[in-house]
Amino acid sequence: MASFTKISEDETPSIIVHSDHKIAKINDNIYGGFTEHMGRCIYGGIYDPGNPLSDEHGFRKDVIEAMKDLNVPVVRYPGGNFVATYHWLDGVGPKEQRPKRPELAWLGIESNEFGTDEFMKWCEVVGTDPYLCLNFGTGTLDEALGWLEYCNSTQDTYYANLRRKNGREEPYNVKYWALGNECWGPWQVAQLTKEDYAKKAYQWAKALKLLDPTITLILCGETGYSSWDYYVLKECVKWDVHGLGGDRTRSLIDMHSIHIYTADKEHLPNATAPRAAERAIQMTSALIDLARIENGVPETVPKQTICFDEWNVWDPIRAPGEQGAEEKYTLSDALAVSVFLNAFIRQAKDMGMANIAQSVNVISPLMTSKTGILKQTIWWPLLLFSKYMRGHSVAVNVKSPEYEGRTNPKWIRGTIETPFLDVCAARCEDGWVGLAVANVSEDRGFEVEVKGVAEGGVKVYTVGGESVHVVNTESEEKVGIKESEWDGKGKFTFGKHSFTLLRWKV
Ligand code: AHR
Repeated sequence: MASFTKISEDETPSIIVHSDHKIAKINDNIYGGFTEHMGRCIYGGIYDPGNPLSDEHGFRKDVIEAMKDLNVPVVRYPGGNFVATYHWLDGVGPKEQRPKRPELAWLGIESNEFGTDEFMKWCEVVGTDPYLCLNFGTGTLDEALGWLEYCNSTQDTYYANLRRKNGREEPYNVKYWALGNECWGPWQVAQLTKEDYAKKAYQWAKALKLLDPTITLILCGETGYSSWDYYVLKECVKWDVHGLGGDRTRSLIDMHSIHIYTADKEHLPNATAPRAAERAIQMTSALIDLARIENGVPETVPKQTICFDEWNVWDPIRAPGEQGAEEKYTLSDALAVSVFLNAFIRQAKDMGMANIAQSVNVISPLMTSKTGILKQTIWWPLLLFSKYMRGHSVAVNVKSPEYEGRTNPKWIRGTIETPFLDVCAARCEDGWVGLAVANVSEDRGFEVEVKGVAEGGVKVYTVGGESVHVVNTESEEKVGIKESEWDGKGKFTFGKHSFTLLRWKV
């Protein structure tokens, strides 16, 4: 949580960090990833058999290394829009017998060479938890139950035995399951009305939890501030012990998913756009409260958290999905990503998970070629956050001038502020405090009084570049991390259009 006081351009900005004032536990899962059968994310991204850079499973080793560096705790799969026509049975068993299918989300052909067992193996190698999304388009409840049984059952039953036959004795114990993806979207194969979705999601949730009451179920929301969100929460966040093995401290729905992509051609509307995501989190949290109040859900049932399972900078006109959505990210986009991540930390009390969309090649910080891997600008703040901004979010007070121009979306103005210094702070379990500061001003560095830092030995990590337009290419990495030290005395200068992480031990 951060309090913001707007000051004039000629006053001195200040940041006060209260490292002993913990606000909420930061769920590690906010650093989650997402791999969809789309463009070059799976094929040519995480899976590239025959390439000398791949291992014996056909997994790209450089991608695995990057995922490990990022310490990605959970990865969503197999879509996205792709999942609306995906039949998981097509992707298991002997590869030569797997059917090729027309793919209707991105208009390609799906070979099914990579499926559930390959994804589970990849997760194991990376050291991450799988998060599966169910087909709410052409899929059936029977099929969904079969998939859950295949992944999690230890019984002597058909799909559990099929898994054994396919070479895997132990269950995969997949914890996270989403009840469809963007079912509200007109681009969706078998789009649903909110009434139809809510009815279906509730009945599926009951059946899925009867089969495995230990799973975490994620409801398909929209942006977090729509009538769809209100309606499906109201209909599904109920106190109902059916399917919970009589457990009165849980509910069928554990999380509510929202998606927001931001982008603008101009730097400041672009870098401040993720403030809409922060407002969306606040609104979703209120809608969850409202559903619980209206439905009389007792406080013994933990509040449903937000699963922000698609977020990033993306302009689908600039980088169309059907062409693989290979966005080239600028420094401005890296600042936008920093503002997204700051928001997740500030709103930690409501955040159960967030998944950058996507992990490789498709609107991604990582781009593979046949010969190597490129780290785009947005990789660097993501890496710093994932490495150092864990533990608890702590209170921070910020005084800064504010950007007052056009915003995208327009409604940001009047609902949430857009300070030039966008700040959050966290205290890790090991006693290190992290202060993350995105200075989104294109032309002004700020000399800031920073209070609450330990004097001496402040580590400084800066992500910056010549201009907000710079991008990283295979031949030149213009944006990376610069490391230095600060003695913690006097004022600290946050350079124009830069992201800075200060770290000290309390
Ligand atoms: O991440 C790309 C696409 O964006 C996903 O498939 C879909 O869920 C969203 O519209």
